Amino acid sequence: ELELHPPKNPWNHNGPFSSLDHASIRRGYEVYKQVCAACHSMRFIAYRNLVGVSHTEDEAKAEAEEQMITDGPDESGNFFQRPGKLSDYFPNPYPNEEAARAANNGAFPPDLSYIVSARHGGEDYIFSLLTGYCDAPAGIVLREGQYYNPYFPGGAISMAQALFNEVIEYSDGTPATASQLAKDVATFLKWTAEPEHDDRKKMLIKSIGIFTILIALTYYIKRFKWTVIK
Ligand code: HEM
Repeated sequence: ELELHPPKNPWNHNGPFSSLDHASIRRGYEVYKQVCAACHSMRFIAYRNLVGVSHTEDEAKAEAEEQMITDGPDESGNFFQRPGKLSDYFPNPYPNEEAARAANNGAFPPDLSYIVSARHGGEDYIFSLLTGYCDAPAGIVLREGQYYNPYFPGGAISMAQALFNEVIEYSDGTPATASQLAKDVATFLKWTAEPEHDDRKKMLIKSIGIFTILIALTYYIKRFKWTVIK
């Protein structure tokens, strides 16, 4: 079976004390919104989750308000459209799985909320998948609507290459090369899959501090109490 193992990249958040790169999360959100969200849902992330991570509260509200959400029923039993609120989840591009498959040659674009945890290789796999498209080697037969990607199990993937140089423009002016876009969206997806990441590492730093004091104190008390018993 043809399948390349993704190489490990020097992510900002590698290492036990390193936080995620929040400017990268913000750019990755822009990639997700303008490219991936055309086909992929993200059912477990709400606009309020962006607040204090990649956006201010006002910015996150503005992002939410760009979506029209079906709500209801109201007092007369009707469903209605309203602009999104902070409490709304990211929109689904398709009404159901059948519609999603119909639009993608029978393949289903998976929900991306937890994809970094769900796939071997995590963010390295995402980066390699997005930047790894190439011509199929001799002997590989692709069906209609399939593309070749050596990082995808089996090699034949029903998702076309989505990232190219300057396919979007970043609001912070970072040059939007294909590899920059892939790095940022992979960092964003790392955050959506592991929103507790930074808190977890902060807890590690705090516990090392607290346990250092407690262990030193215990050792001192032990020596003190046992001095008379020799
Ligand atoms: C599959 C990410 C854009 C359609 C996938 C997978 C990932 C992914 C991680 C799963 C691969 C696996 O199962 O291991 C992304 C990202 C995007 C993006 C990060 C934006 C940068 C798109 C777009 C479309 C699309 C724009 C539609 C035009 C699909 C489909 C599959 C898929 C149909 C299923 C492929 C198969 O099972 O053969 N995508 N995607 N994706 N994606 Fe995307």
